[in-house]
Amino acid sequence: MMNFRAGLADRPTYDTTERDWQIKVNANESPLNLPPLVEERVMARLSRVAFNRYPNEETTLLRRQIAQSYGLSEENVWLGNGSSEIIEKLFFAFGGQGKKIVYPAPSFSMYEIYAQAAETEGVPIALPGDYRLDAEAFIKTVQENRAALAVVCNPNNPTGNYIPREEIGYIAAKIDGALLIDEAYIEFAGESASVLLGKYSNLMVARTFSKAYGLAACRVGYLLADRAVIDMVQKAYMPYSLNVLSAVTADIVYQMRDEYRPRIDMIIAERQRMFERLSGLEGLNVFPSAANFLLCQSARAAKLYEALAAQGIGVRSFGNAVRLENALRLSVGTREENDRIFQAISDFMAGR
Ligand SMILES: Cc1ncc(COP(=O)(O)O)c(C=O)c1O
Repeated sequence: MMNFRAGLADRPTYDTTERDWQIKVNANESPLNLPPLVEERVMARLSRVAFNRYPNEETTLLRRQIAQSYGLSEENVWLGNGSSEIIEKLFFAFGGQGKKIVYPAPSFSMYEIYAQAAETEGVPIALPGDYRLDAEAFIKTVQENRAALAVVCNPNNPTGNYIPREEIGYIAAKIDGALLIDEAYIEFAGESASVLLGKYSNLMVARTFSKAYGLAACRVGYLLADRAVIDMVQKAYMPYSLNVLSAVTADIVYQMRDEYRPRIDMIIAERQRMFERLSGLEGLNVFPSAANFLLCQSARAAKLYEALAAQGIGVRSFGNAVRLENALRLSVGTREENDRIFQAISDFMAGR
């Protein structure tokens, strides 16, 4: 008999199997690959990679570049295999037996899984009907539980709610433990909480290249935090954990991030257009969103999912997840994709 770690068998599996979707709007990816100018530079750089060496200089350059763009020092930045790894390691670093980590629910489903993996008690705070975070209730729960770590996803996945920066500062000031702001979708929303880092040493910000910068395949994310936090958190990592191909690609993408402004603006405009069109459909409730996706609710969500899937359109369903019953999440695609998605949804809702 195989003698696995206690609790491992009970852990949920994050299902990443995919069908061959014609239109894939189920994972909040960018619908667009690298901009041509960026691709040219990336390919040229990849041809000069020293494959025989462990990556060192490349990751240092990326850290330095990111730090400079925020007016921080290299010691305030740590890189990860996607922000997933950053979050997982933070749960490990602040967690452990007898510790608690607080996060809103519904939010990014992996928080619960990372808490379990870190053998830490996850304390979800139920968001109200409109999914807006009540800062006072959040602070109260964090304090009452003496949470080692509190997490706020901003804008929140999958609900799309955005919390203004002042409110983040207010929460950081009121709680004793560490506060992680998961800003995976912040480019579509507004201002990052990163400017508050100098003011609150308990504040940490996780960012990713996977969404607005369309680099999901490379798996690059980063943490901005106080130097003392980075010093501790890096102990949780393997040496050279970020591979050189991802590091140099992210380095060029970040240097050329102005190339991404038009597409981020396009996604924001399309989000608004889709929100308005979908809001007009009988039987469908659409939530306002500050991210690159829209959450919709309908009593017929399960059937709608099937109808879309039959047309090759992959959206995200949440099964029986608490407070997400009858909900579907659609990432914002290109204009053409969105038109097809809208047509398919409106046909279904009208019984056509
Ligand atoms: C809220 C949130 N945080 C973090 C991640 C992880 O992204 P990545 O590991 O690609 O940076 C995701 C991915 O969907 C997300 O939705």
